[in-house]
This record gives sequence, structure tokens and C-alpha cells, in this order.
Amino acid sequence: MASEAAHAVVATPAPPPSLTNSAKNKQNHRQEWPYGNYRSYYSFRSGTTQPDAPPADQLDGRLSLLDPALFREKTLLDIGTNSGKIALDALLLLGARAVAGVDIDPLLIEDARKAALERGLAHDDPRVEFRQANVMEEGWFERFEPSVGKVDVVTLFSITKWLHLHNGDEGMRRLFRSLHTFLPTDGVVIVEPQEWDNYKRAVKRNKDLRETFKTLELRPPFDAEMREVGFVLEEQIEREEGGFSRPLLVWRKVKRAV
Ligand SMILES: C[S@@+](CC[C@H](N)C(=O)[O-])C[C@H]1O[C@@H](n2cnc3c(N)ncnc32)[C@H](O)[C@@H]1O
Repeated sequence: MASEAAHAVVATPAPPPSLTNSAKNKQNHRQEWPYGNYRSYYSFRSGTTQPDAPPADQLDGRLSLLDPALFREKTLLDIGTNSGKIALDALLLLGARAVAGVDIDPLLIEDARKAALERGLAHDDPRVEFRQANVMEEGWFERFEPSVGKVDVVTLFSITKWLHLHNGDEGMRRLFRSLHTFLPTDGVVIVEPQEWDNYKRAVKRNKDLRETFKTLELRPPFDAEMREVGFVLEEQIEREEGGFSRPLLVWRKVKRAV
């Protein structure tokens, strides 16, 4: 049985003020990021708890707050993997058995593959797979066969806003249903949802998202919708990181009572 949800507030100091995130993206040769497909994302998400360690040993600040047992000897699917940091940290610093990272942006998948090589993994290491895909395509989870084997844990970090704005309430409901079917009993989904107030900025930048935005009735962190499909909240960690105020929610697929 899942334990009662615990609540803790953890604050990570903001990096020293320099360029705005928007300016950094432009500097990184990206003019548009309609899916949150920022390049060099980790240059403005500096939430590590070990800033003085060599970069490869700096565990992502969000992962450092989670029970390492969630990852140890488990197979992770990191959705919206960007340049692969969460997946590679889980494998190399938290002892995951294997990791698959998926991103809609082929350039970011290239970045992730490069990052794996830079962190000492062979290009044909069977414990790692980075793949370009839009996970919101109908039937994607049903068709997805990760080369790394059966997935136990899924991370959805700082991506729900983009999935919601592009795919609407029905897309999110379908995603949660698919995740529940995709995972085995005891499987875990860890969500770091963007706050509702944060949606407006994306819509302001991208007019194409306005029509869907107006139709949205669901609100992050999608508590009722996750419960409805059968997940149980095991832990909720409130968190501040610079301008990012996003909790971490650990949801588990439990055996249904008969
Ligand atoms: C804001 S970044 C977050 C990166 C990473 N998850 C983290 O929090 O460290 C969101 C990522 O999700 C990816 N993404 C957005 N929509 C997607 C989709 N439908 N399928 C796969 N990846 C997607 C973007 O390309 C981007 O790399």
C-alpha cells in the first residue's frame, strides 16, 4: 500500500542574474521553442545541489530530492528528455538499470546522444536509448517498444504545460490513461508540472496555442485525473528553484482492489 503523501518545501538558490532565458535561447541558435524545446536547457536550470562538483557528477536538483530507490535497478523512460540529463543522471549517478529518453525535437536527441558519449557511454551501450518521437501521437505508447526493455518509472519533468497546450484536456486524459496501461503494477510516474500561471507566457509568445488554451478546463498538477485512471499519490515535494516554482509528484500504479 502506498504511504501517505509527504510534503516538504525545498528551495534552491537562483543562479546569479545574467542573460534572460529568452536571450540565452537566442544565443544558443534557437529562435522558437514551441514545445519547450530549448537548447542548452541546463544552462538556465542550474538546480544542482553540488555546484562545486565536476559537471558530470552534478546530480539534477530535482532528482536529488527523490528517493534513489525509485531509480536503483529500474528502467526509466524520460519523456521530453531534451539533452538527456535526467536519463543520464539516473543511469550514471542513481544506478538505474537502463534508460530511454524521448523528445519531439531531433536536434535535442542528437544533443542527448552526444551527452551520453561525453559522459563515457559507448554509442552502442544497450542500457541507453534516445529516440525522437511525439509521445502524444495517438497509440504511441501502445506501439512503443523500448530497446532497453520494460519500463518501471516514467519522468515527466517540466513538459506538462507543452503537452497540455498542444493537445488539450483530452490529450492529457489520454496520456494518463496510456501511462497507466503502459506501466506494470507498482510502476511509477514522477511529474514536475508547470504552474497554471506559467501557461500565459507560452501562449503570448505563440499565437497558435491560443485556441486550445481557451478550451482548457483541467489544471496542473492534474491530481483528480491521475487518481481517476488509477494512480495513487505517494509523495509530493514542494520546490522553488530560481523562477521555477514546481512541485514533484510521485504517483504509483497500485494493484486495484477486487
Ligand atoms: C522544458 S523542456 C524540459 C526538459 C527536461 N524534461 C527537464 O525538465 O530537465 C521540455 C522538453 O519536452 C520536449 N517535448 C515537448 N513536447 C513533446 C512531445 N509531444 N513529445 C516528446 N517530447 C516533447 C521538448 O522538446 C523539450 O525538450
